[in-house]
Amino acid sequence: MKAWLNGRLLDSPRDPAVNVLDHGIVVGDGVFETVAVVDGRPFALTRHLERLMRSAEGLGIGRPDLDLVRTGVAATCEGQDMPFGRIRITVTSGEGPLGSPRGDGPQTVIVVTEPAERAASVSSIVTVPWVRNERGALAGLKTTSYAENALMVEYARARGGSEAVMANTRGELCEGTGSNIMYAIDGQLVTPTLESGCLAGVTRALAIEWLGAELDVVERDAPIEVLQEADEVILLGTTRNVQAIERVDDREVPAPGPLARAAQEIWARAQAQQIDP
Ligand SMILES: Cc1ncc(COP(=O)(O)O)c(C=O)c1O
Repeated sequence: MKAWLNGRLLDSPRDPAVNVLDHGIVVGDGVFETVAVVDGRPFALTRHLERLMRSAEGLGIGRPDLDLVRTGVAATCEGQDMPFGRIRITVTSGEGPLGSPRGDGPQTVIVVTEPAERAASVSSIVTVPWVRNERGALAGLKTTSYAENALMVEYARARGGSEAVMANTRGELCEGTGSNIMYAIDGQLVTPTLESGCLAGVTRALAIEWLGAELDVVERDAPIEVLQEADEVILLGTTRNVQAIERVDDREVPAPGPLARAAQEIWARAQAQQIDP
């Protein structure tokens, strides 16, 4: 693992380094990205940096210096043997007071990169009794205020799932804590619209493009109960890629079913051809 902070590689990634008054720590006032490393190189880095910019602007913490972030990404990838890995980029509003109002910055920029195991191609999900607020101030932004997600994924893990999936306030299927969802019904692959309040996932966008070229893929909202009748269920996310789901709560689902298998093949083929699509 290598860690980089505000332009400097840390001697040891666990060295104390961030100011205790950082508003990212005090109230979660920051944005982040998780980028996969494939064969030693960051996958879809440009799309992730564009979303980092959109999240920072949406949160109102100002525009991050993306050239600086790229420097951190390169510095933390260099010299690590990584067939697969994970890069975590965090940008906070910087030092602030011990309450919600912000200070004057400057921003704190952190990049941490580590080798990782590839996710299993099949997994299970648990639906949770809490909702994503599609009208909330942070809807659609990838912020470090993710404690809600941490709680939900622990709820899912306690029930044998690797991911928690939630509805929005309208009761529509929305997303997982770190993934978007797709399901098959009547031969069609369906994923919730961005109006559902889900994050505009990089994997989701690429899946709509890549799978959509060969399969019937649509964006459509439906009540979360659709998961009880779906023929197949798939999670989409940076660390999971295209993951088939074999159990939704107590319901067994064929996995990988024919559409999930086709989706995984199309994904693997396309991903092998381009590192920054
Ligand atoms: C809430 C949420 N939804 C969806 C995703 C999937 O997005 P991506 O495919 O860009 O990883 C993430 C990413 O971690 C997320 O945090």
